[in-house]
Amino acid sequence: MQKKDVVKEERGSFRGTIGFVLAAAGSAVGLGNIWRFPYLAARDGGGLFLVVYIVLALTFGFTLLITEISIGRKTKQSPLTAYMHISREWKWIGYFQCLVPFLILPYYCAIGGWVLKYFTAFLTGHGDDAAEDGYFGDFITGRTAPGIYMFIFLAICAVIIYMGVSGGIEKSSRIMMPVLVVLVIVVAVFSLTIKNDDPARGVVTGIDGLKVYVIPSLKGITLKRFLLIVMDALGQLFFSISVAMGIMIAYGSYMPDDSNLVKSVNQIEIFDTVIAFLAGVMIIPAVYVFMGPEGMNGGPSLMFVSLPKVFAQMGVLGNAVGTAFFAMVLFAAVTSAMSILEAVVSSLIDGFGMSRKKATVIESLIALVIGLVVCFGYNIFYFKVDLPNGTTGQILDILDYLTNNLLMPFTCIATCILIGWVVKPDTVIKEATRNGEHLGRKWLYIVMIKFIAPAFLLVLLLMSMGIIKLAD
Ligand code: PFF
Repeated sequence: MQKKDVVKEERGSFRGTIGFVLAAAGSAVGLGNIWRFPYLAARDGGGLFLVVYIVLALTFGFTLLITEISIGRKTKQSPLTAYMHISREWKWIGYFQCLVPFLILPYYCAIGGWVLKYFTAFLTGHGDDAAEDGYFGDFITGRTAPGIYMFIFLAICAVIIYMGVSGGIEKSSRIMMPVLVVLVIVVAVFSLTIKNDDPARGVVTGIDGLKVYVIPSLKGITLKRFLLIVMDALGQLFFSISVAMGIMIAYGSYMPDDSNLVKSVNQIEIFDTVIAFLAGVMIIPAVYVFMGPEGMNGGPSLMFVSLPKVFAQMGVLGNAVGTAFFAMVLFAAVTSAMSILEAVVSSLIDGFGMSRKKATVIESLIALVIGLVVCFGYNIFYFKVDLPNGTTGQILDILDYLTNNLLMPFTCIATCILIGWVVKPDTVIKEATRNGEHLGRKWLYIVMIKFIAPAFLLVLLLMSMGIIKLAD
């Protein structure tokens, strides 16, 4: 068989629009929705953050998603090779769209391994141990366990990608996403019903926590603080919708030509935002009732330190709720990680003429090796670095900073310039409306892609680099 034929045969496609939407939403709904969104919302004035986030999703998020999915579907190419079909001179953006998921996959899998560990602990009735002080630290600083859990997590994703677009990605998303939604709703409803008689605060209920989350608070608001909230929401949205990491181009390239792209983008955004919101309904009341507002720290400590303590206080039910919670997080993490893997695998298939099977095995092995280095970042290779955005961290945080804070905004700005100014927005609009669909926000799309999105992204990039400082 000729190299070209291999590529053609290996290029799968989603069977239907629903399959595509579930897979893309599965990619978008990930750890970011669960451990970052609720924390930012609680910190940034509750309902005020939610309103800002929704406005940004409908404008900024909509623009970026339409753009990447259209580039994928129009070219029917992987992130690596798609850009050269749009413009020869700008093909280098494709290198970045491929490099980003290559760098993210190992550390996302390391965190996926942590989730798997917690899920196993709760499932086997050891949830109480997970609530002990030092449990999380002891686990991640261990030399073997984090690597083993990461390996299992990565292997699950690899098997799905190995099975192909419709047989692996679409099929598994059709199962995992509905289960995820049910679990989120069950835990969220439960979280609203809990109450605790706190010696210091009296009886505190889940509904009290919900109020903190959804009622807009304008207390102490200044222009500077408002801008900070806008930038927090923007950064979160950017992280959440899985753009600038090759995924939406890869998934877009498998989208059937007769699917309604504009409608699908709306559905992906609604899915992503509703799950992020419900993650807050799950987490904020529970943490608020048992720990007060102080428990709401973002990042790994929320999920792996605070929440197990909350589950432990729920008594007999705690283990069951914890199991449901970590099963849900596991599904969210697998559907995201497999999309990151697919972004690289599709690039190897289209760019190097590899078969899907070979590409999956090679990339998974590389991710495994780098992933082990990430795990060893908490013991053998331990060191601490100060990052330009004011945080400190280990290898995992360096990779996260490099991708999320630098490479992703940069790649996205380049895409905005290419589409907005070089090949013109009509390139995307034509693809998005190829079946005569109505693009209601056409003017908005043009203004966003040319001016507002690149300007916002530039501010985000400069903030990450520590050049612009908004925080006090
Ligand atoms: N959008 C997914 C999430 O919110 O977790 C996937 C993802 C985004 C993975 C950004 C990694 C990343 F750096």
